[in-house]
Amino acid sequence: MIESTLVLIKPDAFAKHYTGDIIKRYEEAGLQISAMKLLQMTPQLAAKHYAEHVGREYYEGLASFMTSAPLIAMVLRGEDAIERVRQLDGVTDPAKAVPGTIRHDFAESTRHNAVHASDGPESAVREIHIFFNETEIYI
Ligand code: CDP
Ligand code: MG
Repeated sequence: MIESTLVLIKPDAFAKHYTGDIIKRYEEAGLQISAMKLLQMTPQLAAKHYAEHVGREYYEGLASFMTSAPLIAMVLRGEDAIERVRQLDGVTDPAKAVPGTIRHDFAESTRHNAVHASDGPESAVREIHIFFNETEIYI
């Protein structure tokens, strides 16, 4: 099934100039960029995007990291995009991620883990519309 998913290149990876290398992984996998922008998250935006994490013991540190510097937001589209992007990214903790995944290759810790990707169809729709208007998405 053709799907769209939200990807963030987090402040750690953006600051280290890994953006091009990371986008190349997605493009080489055949995924299409249908929206993209550079922005710095506000605390309000972080709380909306990470709503299910608000109140957890790591949330303050996560929000502080995500609002600390600019990041790239994009919508990727393609066959089984949601699961395929999660596979390309690797698991949350880069120390446990499979070699060749983005988090294994570009991330430094469970918090500073280079990328975010939606984890299912409902979160994809919800998260895409936090960052993009319909007029900013090119299918
Ligand atoms: O991003 P992913 O879906 O793989 O992981 P998550 O469990 O949904 O957690 C969201 C994000 O919170 C992670 O990607 C980490 O950046 C951060 N996190 C953290 O800072 N400390 C933790 N103990 C767990 C997650
Ligand atoms: Mg998650």
